[in-house]
Amino acid sequence: MHTVDELKDLSGKKVMVRVDFNVPLNGKEIRDDNRVVSALPTIKELLKKHARVVLFSHLGKIKWGKVDDAEIAKQKAKNDMNFVYPRLKELLAGVNVYFCEATRGSELKAAIDKLNDGEVLLVQNTRYEKGESKNDKELSADWASNFDCFVMDAFGSAHRAHASTYGVPEILKAEGKEVALGYLMEKEVKNLGACVKADAHPYVAILGGFKVSDKIKVIDSLLNKCDKILIGGAMAYTFFKALGKDIGTSPCELDQLDYAKRCYESGKIVLPVDSVVANDFDNPTEIKVVDTDVENPAVKGIPEGFEGLDVGEKTSEKYAKIIAEAKLIFWNGPVGVFEKEEFQAGTIAVCKAITANKDAFSVIGGGDSAAAAKQFGYADKFSHVSTGGGASLEMIENDGHLPGIDVIG
Ligand code: 3PG
Repeated sequence: MHTVDELKDLSGKKVMVRVDFNVPLNGKEIRDDNRVVSALPTIKELLKKHARVVLFSHLGKIKWGKVDDAEIAKQKAKNDMNFVYPRLKELLAGVNVYFCEATRGSELKAAIDKLNDGEVLLVQNTRYEKGESKNDKELSADWASNFDCFVMDAFGSAHRAHASTYGVPEILKAEGKEVALGYLMEKEVKNLGACVKADAHPYVAILGGFKVSDKIKVIDSLLNKCDKILIGGAMAYTFFKALGKDIGTSPCELDQLDYAKRCYESGKIVLPVDSVVANDFDNPTEIKVVDTDVENPAVKGIPEGFEGLDVGEKTSEKYAKIIAEAKLIFWNGPVGVFEKEEFQAGTIAVCKAITANKDAFSVIGGGDSAAAAKQFGYADKFSHVSTGGGASLEMIENDGHLPGIDVIG
C-alpha cells in the first residue's frame, strides 16, 4: 500500500487530495465537522512536505436526470461547498486557504496554478459536474491534467468509482505519477481490515437498520465470518414474520421472508426476545413491551395496531451477555428509533455493552450507529468509529476491496 509517509519532498508539486467533506448540514450550518477534522492529519503532512494542496469532495447528492436547470440550481444551492470552507479555514489557521468556484477547465487550472507551496485550495462540490458520478473520462482527464500527485483520503467515498475517486488516480498512475492513501484511509483499512479478516473469536456483529434487502450482502459475508449476528431495528420484523410471528403494523419486506428464514437456519442469527411497541409512530399514546421470542410457540408477537420501535430490556440483557464474551465486534445500524427518547434504550444498551468489554476490538461501521454513539457519549470508547457507512459495509461485503483503495494499489 503506497501511503503519504512514502511521498518525498513535494516542493512545487500540485497534489490533488480527495477528501470526504460530505458533512451533515442543517441548512448552511455544519452539524458535525468530524469528517473535516479527520482529514487534517493528511493535509498537514502534505503541507509539511511543502505541497500545493488542492482538496476535492462531493457534498450531498445532485440528482441529474430529467430535471430542468432551475431544479439543478436549487440542488446546487443546497449542497454548496462554501458551507464547509469557513470551518476548514478555522481548522487550518495560519495556512492560506482559498476557494475555487469553478469545477473544471481554465478557471480551475488558473486557481491551482496560482497556489504557492504550503497553500490550500478547496474546490466547489465535485457533484456540480454531471460526469463525476459517471466516472466520465473527459472530466477525469481535465482534473488529472492539473496534478503531479494524487492522495486518496475519502474513505466514506471509497466505494464509489467516480471521476474524483477512481478516474483521476487511474490516469495519474498510468502516467507514472505518484498516487497514495492518506492517513484516514490507512487507519480505516487497518481497523476495518480486522473485521474483514475475522482474526479474533468470538466475533459478534450487531446489525440494525430498516431493510433486510439493504444488508443481504453484508449478512451473507458476516455469516461466513462471525460466530453470532445480533439483529435489531426494523429489520427484525421481517425475521419475525418469516418465522411465523405477528408483527402488527411494523415494516416488513415480504420478498425477503425466504432469505430471512434461511439465514436464521444458520444458527448464528440472534433475534430480539422482546420488543418495545407503540400504537403510533408520530404521536404514540400507548407504548408497551411485548414478548417476541421466535423460539417460544406460545408467543404470538406484536399485536395488531402496534409497531415495533426498539428492542426490549430482556433482549438488551441477552445481547449484552453475548457481547461480553466477544473478542471482535462490528456494529452497523441502531437497534431502535434512537432519535426518539422513548425508543433509544436499546441502542444505548448496545453502546454500553460493547464499550464495557475492554478485551474486544470494537468497530462501528459509520452512519447512524456512529451518530448514536456520539449522541450518547460513547464514541471515544470504541476501538474504531469508521467515517464511512456504505463504504465500511461494502468493504466487509467485498473482502476488503473497494474501488478507491484498489485503484491506488
Ligand atoms: C457517505 O456519506 O456515505 C459518503 O460521503 C458517500 O456519499 P454518497 O452515498 O452520496 O456517495
